[in-house]
Amino acid sequence: MKQHTFHVIHGPNLNLLGEREPEIYGTLTLEEINNRIHEFAKSQSCVVHCFQSNSEGAIIDYIQKNRNCDGIIINAGAYTHTSIAIRDCIAASGLPCIEVHLSNIHSRERFRRHSYIAPVCIGQICGFGYYSYIVALQALIHYLENYSK
Ligand code: DQA
Repeated sequence: MKQHTFHVIHGPNLNLLGEREPEIYGTLTLEEINNRIHEFAKSQSCVVHCFQSNSEGAIIDYIQKNRNCDGIIINAGAYTHTSIAIRDCIAASGLPCIEVHLSNIHSRERFRRHSYIAPVCIGQICGFGYYSYIVALQALIHYLENYSK
């Protein structure tokens, strides 16, 4: 089986995980979440690169630069609800992409229910804390092995 390479992108304010509203986002730091992602990736024999930025432009540059990979998992944070530019970038990349959120964005404020990114993703996984990333990785691998050409 081909060894897949994926990029996990964390958007704005996710660098503050652990101290940021722990009742909503949990107590794990971003580094601890990344460690769990890497651990799971290793068990699936795939390679994952994790990236965080608070800047919309930097996220777009990163996706453009890495569009030769096998897939993307993105938690765009608040840009999920505002960024047509990130949506266009995902669409332009042609990559399979899964949208992830730690919290259940559908059970929170109304403005979080709309995602500009969801229509250009295979699917959206939210509400499972750090485990949303693990589910997304499983789903991406399953998608590549069963549905992509
Ligand atoms: C989030 C949900 C967003 O609405 C919010 O702006 C975030 C985090 C999540 O992971 O639950 O920054 O993407």
